[in-house]
Parts: sequence; C-alpha cells; structure tokens
Amino acid sequence: MQIWAIGGGKGGTGKSFITSGLGVCLAEKGLKVVMVDADFGGANLHTYCALPKPARSYGEFVREGVPLNELLIETPIPGVSLIAGDLNSSGANPLTYALKIKFFRQLRKLDANVVLLDLGAGSHHKTLDAFLEADRMIVVTVPERMAIENLYVFIKSAFFRKLSPLFKKAGIHEEARNVWMRREDYGIRSMDDFTEYLSNHFSGFGQLFKEAMRYFRVHIVLNKVRDYRQTETGFAIKSMAEKYLGIPASFAGHVRYDRDFWDRLLQDKASLSRVSAARIMVDVCRIADALTEGMEEPDKLSGETG
Ligand SMILES: Nc1ncnc2c1ncn2[C@@H]1O[C@H](COP(=O)(O)OP(=O)(O)OP(=O)(O)O)[C@@H](O)[C@H]1O
Ligand SMILES: [Mg+2]
Repeated sequence: MQIWAIGGGKGGTGKSFITSGLGVCLAEKGLKVVMVDADFGGANLHTYCALPKPARSYGEFVREGVPLNELLIETPIPGVSLIAGDLNSSGANPLTYALKIKFFRQLRKLDANVVLLDLGAGSHHKTLDAFLEADRMIVVTVPERMAIENLYVFIKSAFFRKLSPLFKKAGIHEEARNVWMRREDYGIRSMDDFTEYLSNHFSGFGQLFKEAMRYFRVHIVLNKVRDYRQTETGFAIKSMAEKYLGIPASFAGHVRYDRDFWDRLLQDKASLSRVSAARIMVDVCRIADALTEGMEEPDKLSGETG
C-alpha cells in the first residue's frame, strides 16, 4: 500500500480534480483506492465524487479521536472510497505532531492499495510535512508564471524541511545556517551547490543526505494545458528542480484544458467515472499509468521524515 500526496503551492491549479481523476484511473486498473480530503478550509473532494455534503468527516478524527477506518464513505466510483474533509474547519491545519503520527499510522493500516491525499494550497510547514510523509510526492501546476513560481517555492520549502532534521542529526545545524547565510562568499549558487558543500565539509552529513534522498523524487503534473507547446513547461520545471535544487524530478504528464468539463460534470449529476471517456480523463489515466510504473519501489522509505 502506498500513500500518494498531491500538493503544489498555488490554489486552483486542479489538485482536487487530479486527485479524484487519479482515483478513478487507479480503480479502473483494479486497485483499491482511498481518497482523503486533507484540505482544511477548502474541502471539496466530495463534490468531485458527486456526493452531497458528507455526514462524516476527518473532523471527527481530529476532535473525537474516531478511527479513520470508521470515517470511510463509499463513492459512486467503484473501488474508491473517501474520507471527506472537515467542512466546519476554520482553515488551519489541526494536526499537531502527535496527531500527524497517528494519522499516518492509521492511513497505512487502511484496506487500500493507494491512499490519495489532497493537500490543498499553500506551503505551510504542516502541509509540507504531510507531503514529505508520502511515498509518492505529486505536485500539480498550470503553465502560468505565477503558478510556477509558487510551485518552485513549494518544492524548495519541502526540500529545506526535509534537510532540517538531517542538519540536527549530523550536529551541524549552526554551521549549515552560517554557510547558507554567507552562501555567496562560498560560491554557492543553488541548493545543489549547498548540499554538495556540506557533504564535502561535514563527513556525517554526506552519508545522511545520501540515505535520506535515496528515494526522494517529485512528480510534476501540468494541468489546464491549452496548447501543446505549453507542455515544455513541465520539462522546464523538472530541469529547474534538478539543476537548482538537486532534486530528482519527473514530468508525469499533462492534462488538457477542457472548457466544458465542469458543466459536463454537473449536467451528468454523476461522478467523474461517467466522464471517463472525456479527453481529460484520458490524459489523467496516462498520468496514472506513468505514476504506477515501478510502484513496487516507492520513492521514499516510509517513516523516514519522523
Ligand atoms: N483540466 C481542466 N480543464 C478545465 N478546468 C479545470 C481543469 N482542471 C481543473 N479545472 C477547474 O479548475 C478549478 C480548480 O480546480 P480544483 O478545485 O481541482 O483546484 P485545486 O488546486 O484543488 O484548488 P484549491 O487550491 O482551491 O484546493 C475547478 O473549477 C475545476 O473544475
Ligand atoms: Mg482543492
């Protein structure tokens, strides 16, 4: 069983749609899927599943300690169930460190092949922590400058968040901070230069870094593509992550913009599975194919980030 997190910084890029679309495509492959709406303050994954306001939600886990497996709701999509988001949430992520541990421990015990976590917008450290906890880290963006800038900040912040415990473990927290603050003096122009410098100068760090990053990979999904040439953006983001951050990244694929998509969904009063013939679902399922390739080898070892 694997946990896939879907995040990416900017709001409205299509994270919830991609989450639900991946749910449909993975279920069509015969996998058992649980989708979790972890978007606090913007819960809407149930709408993508054509479900009315859910009676049970994630909020019960947070406030009353109800186990996650009791909060599963059947969806009209065969093979897909949902843990709905908390519609009463003020928007702040309520997961304390202890709750986060409990949350992931319970997620990993669910009867599913893939758990899809719709993380919502923003680069809050709690969002980043949930992102880093996943076995497959997926980011969704659109081919627009502002969205790409937001995405870059999201990936960079996640990477920093991942590095921070390594600095502590290697006992170089202060040193790393100093080097980063004076990076120009050291000729450091990218995160890649930074980690290389630390690996060369602090022996313990090099080994820790190598181990922690062994399975670290970001999968990029480009949504709302209006022109085939825009797919270049996906490759550009991949190169940017690799060149400046030293993070292995892959471009999982693009989804075309569909002007009528939302109307079609409402008209049908049905779940996404009924529009699976639509071309954007063809696109999403191609991405699901790419993401399930080599699924036996998760991108990271679970429980690493702690
Ligand atoms: N490929 C697409 N073609 C056309 N419209 C799309 C496409 N993908 C998403 N949309 C539309 O974009 C809007 C935002 O999508 P969605 O709710 O999935 O974004 P989100 O990233 O989850 O937003 P938030 O950050 O608010 O959670 C919706 O109205 C959705 O129907
Ligand atoms: Mg959303």
